[in-house]
Amino acid sequence: MLRRKPVAMLLREAAAPGGLKRALRAFDLTLLGIGAIVGAGVFVLTGVAAKEYAGPAVVLSFCVSGFACAMAALCYAEFAAMIPVAGSAYSYAYATMGELVGWIIGWDLVLEYAVGSAAVAVGWSGYLRVILEGVGIHLPAALSHAPGSAPGAILDLPALLIVLAVSAVLYVGISESARFNSLIVGIKLVVIGIVIVVGAFYVRPSNWSPFAPLGWGGVMKGAAVIFFAYIGFDAVSTAAEEVVDPQRDLPIGILGSLFACTLLYVLVAAVVTGMVPARILDINAPLASAFVIRGLKALSGIISLGAVAGLTSVLLVLLLGQSRIFYAVSRDGLLPPAFSKIHPRFKTPYIPTTITAVVVAIAAALLPIQEIAELTNIGTLFAFVLVCLGIWILRHLEPGLKRPFRTPLVPLVPILGVIFCFYLMASLPRITWERFFIWMGIGLIIYFAYGRHHSRVAAEYRKLDPEAAAARPAR
Ligand code: ALA
Repeated sequence: MLRRKPVAMLLREAAAPGGLKRALRAFDLTLLGIGAIVGAGVFVLTGVAAKEYAGPAVVLSFCVSGFACAMAALCYAEFAAMIPVAGSAYSYAYATMGELVGWIIGWDLVLEYAVGSAAVAVGWSGYLRVILEGVGIHLPAALSHAPGSAPGAILDLPALLIVLAVSAVLYVGISESARFNSLIVGIKLVVIGIVIVVGAFYVRPSNWSPFAPLGWGGVMKGAAVIFFAYIGFDAVSTAAEEVVDPQRDLPIGILGSLFACTLLYVLVAAVVTGMVPARILDINAPLASAFVIRGLKALSGIISLGAVAGLTSVLLVLLLGQSRIFYAVSRDGLLPPAFSKIHPRFKTPYIPTTITAVVVAIAAALLPIQEIAELTNIGTLFAFVLVCLGIWILRHLEPGLKRPFRTPLVPLVPILGVIFCFYLMASLPRITWERFFIWMGIGLIIYFAYGRHHSRVAAEYRKLDPEAAAARPAR
């Protein structure tokens, strides 16, 4: 359980012929990052955080979450440049803290990527409804809401369909996916730009007071929800094996996209809460609603269109990340081999892509957004904690490894990352914690029933030194 996967083995696998296609550069990665980051968090959850918890101080919530992410991002960047392989935090943990922690984090990342995709798809469906209603089309509640979130609701069909459509693009290939992504990211940035620049003319500073109606506790609860808005910068690292020059491009992609998004979020939050009092924002489509309330109906339509486009690109990156993590875990033998089969023509891991598509589509059709987002957050924060610890541990275990990018101020940065991420986790509701523990429990059962007995790293160790492997667990 404590055996670590040698970094050399990770790199060898990544370089093996017949693997994924290297087609991405720093610019594509930054766009991929922004594509993954700017989504349901800023377009939907800003409303929840401002209205229910933080008020205009949601600006501070964004800063707190952004700071936690920046610390984690600095650690991710060192890992991603040093071990540029698919699998992200899973692979990093396997190399540093051993197989069991690696598996735990891989399983945990399903919360971030698959469960997160479901939340984004639900947000997508919400903005689609706003657009359709704007042109006089009313979808029946039975087919456009998750059960329990509207009277008579049966399933959220638009959420289900968008997951399947985006997965179809991913099935066909990574270059095509990157091109599709760049186009959408452009649209999304224009729309965010409109919100900031036009909205600024409609700010009434009196709306900013009271600034923090529920005090610091409200700011922190807001930060724990809004954290969702930052998820995705780490998804850049899941595409590591498809990057042309990972040592140079990965840190630029990760840090660049996070920095750009933090700036945009703070500005959007300041403008929107300045335009109208936070308590009258519409929780389903807060940015659009601020513009409607101030009489800018046409612009609100454009914003909704941008949100729909923006959420599509988030879905693309999250679904991509999930299938690549399954690919990496299966390549190590901890999941069945089918998960790492590459499509002969498209060169994509088509089986995990398909399985993820079906499961996420069903979840998106049946579950409400805020709860899914909170579960996503706790899982992601936990992964960040382990990544921060991992950087620190690896500096001691393998000081000689080539580190093209070094996290500055170790151990201060990792420690701050751990403290801030844990503080955010602690601000989430109890029910979220319970679900988190149940999920991790299921993961442990799978590991002890399957992964432990099929581990390829274990097999390698046995080959190298059969007697020692029999006598004690290899490290
Ligand atoms: N950060 C992504 C979003 O806001 C997950 O939708």
